Amino acid sequence: MSEMLEKARKYEFTQGQQIKAEDRPAFHITPYVGWMNDPNGFSCYKGEYHLFYQYNPYNTHWDSMHWGHVVSKDLLHWDYLPAALAPDQDYDKVGCFSGSAIELEDGRQLLMYTAVDREILEDGTARDVQTQAVAVGDGKDYVKYDKNPVLTFKDLPEGASKADFRDPKIWKEKDGNFYCVIGSRPADGSGQILLYRSKNGFEWEFVSTLAENKNRYGKMWECPDFFELDGKYVLLTSPQDMIPEGMEYHNGNGTLCIIGDLDSETHTLKEQSYQSVDYGIDCYAMQTLLAPDGRRIMIAWMQNWDTLAYRRNESKWFAQMSLPREVSVKNGRLYQVPVRELDSMRANKVEYRDVVIKDTRITLDQIEGRTVDLELVIRPVDKDKLYKKFELCFAENEKYHSTLRFRPDESVLKIDRSFSGSERAVVHQRECLVNGDCNELKLRVILDRFSAEIFINDGEQVMSAVILTEQAAKGISFFVDGAAKIDVVKYDLV
Ligand code: FRU
Repeated sequence: MSEMLEKARKYEFTQGQQIKAEDRPAFHITPYVGWMNDPNGFSCYKGEYHLFYQYNPYNTHWDSMHWGHVVSKDLLHWDYLPAALAPDQDYDKVGCFSGSAIELEDGRQLLMYTAVDREILEDGTARDVQTQAVAVGDGKDYVKYDKNPVLTFKDLPEGASKADFRDPKIWKEKDGNFYCVIGSRPADGSGQILLYRSKNGFEWEFVSTLAENKNRYGKMWECPDFFELDGKYVLLTSPQDMIPEGMEYHNGNGTLCIIGDLDSETHTLKEQSYQSVDYGIDCYAMQTLLAPDGRRIMIAWMQNWDTLAYRRNESKWFAQMSLPREVSVKNGRLYQVPVRELDSMRANKVEYRDVVIKDTRITLDQIEGRTVDLELVIRPVDKDKLYKKFELCFAENEKYHSTLRFRPDESVLKIDRSFSGSERAVVHQRECLVNGDCNELKLRVILDRFSAEIFINDGEQVMSAVILTEQAAKGISFFVDGAAKIDVVKYDLV
């Protein structure tokens, strides 16, 4: 093991131990200590779920990318393992950037990641260059391949940039080959997704340009993932520099899901529909795995590059992952629901049916908390007369609250964390045009101490947001302008 990795492992162990369990979310993944960004290597290995993450153990800001590592049997209770990779080689000294993992036939676990190096140009200036590297291990310790890097700028199509070639997502196909998709920047300065093939995971060849941005959806497409789902092909990617369109793509560094068919002759995606993956404030760099039972499960960095200033200064960890979500395709759209394992954490059911609220704010006995699973159905009292506005307040006390606000006449749902205790004037609101019937809005709200994830109409749309309000603010209230009737089912998540 390199000195650098040994140092990181010692440091995280002594520091990470000191963070109290109640200072972390109950079931969302946070870095052992320090900074976390993208999920990496989300995969099954020897019957357990592994997740690696972009990691700087030494402080709560992005720097010197290592790979942190956690493992779980149920996707909700995670154990920390020692850091898996450090930027300790000549070819990856600037950082071990994002990538993925897979179990090899011989029982070893293969990690594939972007190795970042720096080159000096003729005019004396420096620029980063990105190649792909691999490491193999036993689920805890990894050895970098002595012939790294395994893909370099020589494997790029004409005109593509050496500086933006990153985030390999590997999978095994029925034809026995490994494939991976990698984000790249073509000559037009936008993004493209490249497809590569390998017999063994170590020697790779270029197959095709699977999809091209052509300056339509943001610029560089980061963190691609590509898979077949419910008879369609799905490309997930996280574009930088997105320009908002209607209520989609408002987060700058946004999320994009393209659904279509695969042209198996040309290995290109025949695109059919486009959407944001998440309509809230905090979601980026989604990655999926195929579970042994056939479920496609997605996890994301539940954070926004543009709102990093929304933070708890005293905390020794920064950023968290989203809840793992089961994804499916219905009517050309990506649906997401919390993994069903979450049901086993449900306790203390409290249920209210047909509560009529008229031009007033109410609270309901025993409906409160910051680690809860809340199911709501909101309908007008009188079918022919829509209410003007429904509001759910949570993480609430005299000083603070966060809000979900629905206006059925416009079919717009808004999340607003302006009063969540932020000292910074970063973006705290997002809106989503809800598809479907305004006469019945179904929400499932998952709160886990420092976040809210809202699943709309059985997961057709999702809004995720970090909520850093002090934990004493645990009130939940309901307000209606007009008259509405609501069903509420609440569980504590324990
Ligand atoms: C996305 C990203 C990746 C890169 C990593 C570096 O959030 O920019 O493209 O590999 O973060 O930490």
